[in-house]
Amino acid sequence: MRRKLAAGNWKMNGTAADLAEIAALIAANPAPTIDLLICPPATLIAQMVWSKKNHPLAVGGQDCHAKAAGAHTGDISAPMLAAAGASHVILGHSERRTDHGETDAQVRAKAQAALAAGLPGVICMGETRAARAAGTTLDVVGRQLAGSTPDTATGATAVIAYEPVWAIGTGLVPTLEQIAEVHGFIRAELARRFGADAQAFRILYGGSVKPGNAAEIFAVADVDGALVGGASLKSADFSPIIAALSAS
Ligand code: 13P
Repeated sequence: MRRKLAAGNWKMNGTAADLAEIAALIAANPAPTIDLLICPPATLIAQMVWSKKNHPLAVGGQDCHAKAAGAHTGDISAPMLAAAGASHVILGHSERRTDHGETDAQVRAKAQAALAAGLPGVICMGETRAARAAGTTLDVVGRQLAGSTPDTATGATAVIAYEPVWAIGTGLVPTLEQIAEVHGFIRAELARRFGADAQAFRILYGGSVKPGNAAEIFAVADVDGALVGGASLKSADFSPIIAALSAS
C-alpha cells in the first residue's frame, strides 16, 4: 500500500510571521495518518523544522543545484537542504522550467544530487494549455517523466507530481477522466521502466487543488496525494484537503 502524501508548495511566499500557520496546521492535525510535507522558501526551512518540534510534518526545499558545492552564486545544494533539516525537495516545477529554462536533463541531474543527499525528489511534470489542446499531453508527460527521473529512482526515493501548467494558480482543473488518464499513463510508464517497483511510486496531482475539489480528485485511481500551492499557505485551507486525503 502506498502511503498518501499531502504536500504544500509555498513557492516564493512566507516569512517568519507565517510560521504561525504551521503551528495552526499542527494543532489541526496533531496525529496525521498520512504523510504531510511543506516546502517553504529556503529561508524558512530551518526555522520550520525547529518550530514543528517532534511533529511528523516533513519540510522540504523547492529546488536544488546538481552539484554539492562550488561557485554557484545564489544556488543551494541538496546536502545544504538536508543539513538545514529538509527531508524532500521539489524538482522541475513548471515555474522553474519556465522562469529558469530548466530542461529534463537538468532536472534529472538535480534529482540524482537529491538522491545522493538522501532527499526524495518530488519530480514535477505537466503539459501546457497548447499541448493539451493539440492532444499531445501524454507525449509531453512521457518525455518529461523519462527525461527527468533518474534510472536509480525508486518508489522510496522519488515522488512524481503531475501538474498541468494550465491548472496551476488558475482555478482550472482537468476532468477526473483526464487526471485518471495521465496518472494511469505515468504508472504504466513507471512499470515499463522500473518493473514491480512502479507500484511503490507515489503520484501526486497538482494544480488548483482546493477544499472543494479535493475529495473527488483523491477518489481517482493512482492519485496518491496532492501537491498544493495557494491552498497550502493557510491551515484553514490545507487542513480540509488533508482530511479529504486521509478519508480517501
Ligand atoms: P496551485 O495549487 O496554487 O494551483 O499551485 C499548484 C502548484 O504549482 C504546486 O506546486
